[in-house]
Amino acid sequence: MNRRLAKYWTGKTVLITGASSGLGYALVEALAPYGVHFCLLSRRVEPMQELAAKLQASGSQFWLRACDVRKRAEVESAVADFVKTAGRLDVAWVNSGIGGETSYRRWDWDKVENILQTNLNGALYTAHTCLQHIVPQNQGTIVAISSVSAMRGLAGRPIYSITKIGLAYYMEAMAAELPQLQFTTIYPGFVDTALNRGNPRRLWLMMPPQAAQLMIKAVAKRKREYIYPFPMKVVFHLVRALPAGLYRWLGGKMIELSRPR
Ligand SMILES: NC(=O)c1ccc[n+]([C@@H]2O[C@H](COP(=O)([O-])OP(=O)(O)OC[C@H]3O[C@@H](n4cnc5c(N)ncnc54)[C@H](OP(=O)(O)O)[C@@H]3O)[C@@H](O)[C@H]2O)c1
Repeated sequence: MNRRLAKYWTGKTVLITGASSGLGYALVEALAPYGVHFCLLSRRVEPMQELAAKLQASGSQFWLRACDVRKRAEVESAVADFVKTAGRLDVAWVNSGIGGETSYRRWDWDKVENILQTNLNGALYTAHTCLQHIVPQNQGTIVAISSVSAMRGLAGRPIYSITKIGLAYYMEAMAAELPQLQFTTIYPGFVDTALNRGNPRRLWLMMPPQAAQLMIKAVAKRKREYIYPFPMKVVFHLVRALPAGLYRWLGGKMIELSRPR
């Protein structure tokens, strides 16, 4: 067992949204050996129950509830009930999210509003509600899963990319206002989950268990930002530095590259 990870994670109370699949599910598997008291939230309860049963022997404790992050009252009552049981909240992992194309030609208001409500409203409901418990403790961590899609306005996926840059800006602002707390914003590249399985070109694709290990290490190192994998980090910074005119041209090409065939 990694000593730095054990020192940071052992005995912590950790809330994770979107624990029923993909990155959230893998994070629970990665953290369970450290004896964590989990609060698992997502709409589907069954996969979370199966996960808790599978990890029963790990020594971690599991508290789970069906929760739609688009509904503020559901988030508030789930977090309050968990804190009542666990006594405190050490780490809140704002992870739930959905993707999807929202180009001009395929614009669909239901889809657009669902992405905004899940990725932006849902993330803010989760983060703010958790902060209301963490701030009085004067100690604690908010981790937010943004995306490399936040590098620029992504052609074909403008709504997804604005939700992810919006979340990153929220984290930056809160970190400046509340310097006593840890804020870690993570920008994953492509990880093999249901979210991007229709995408034909998933550069430097990683598997969820490997991604989860990288992320729990980055949080234990108290990083403010973490972009992975490394080649994607290079692309992220290069693309951010491109002049607007060049990015416009490149962005138009990207829309074709990322469209499912
Ligand atoms: N996979 C990648 O390559 C990648 C890259 C960059 C960023 N990300 C981000 O990573 C996060 C996790 O995504 P993933 O890749 O693990 O995809 P995923 O396998 O589809 O998981 C998404 C999770 O979000 C939950 N969720 C969706 N809508 C929800 C709602 N209204 N209320 C509560 N939970 C909801 C889902 O649970 P229920 O359906 O049970 O509610 C599920 O557990 C997302 O924020 C995504 O944007 C992923």
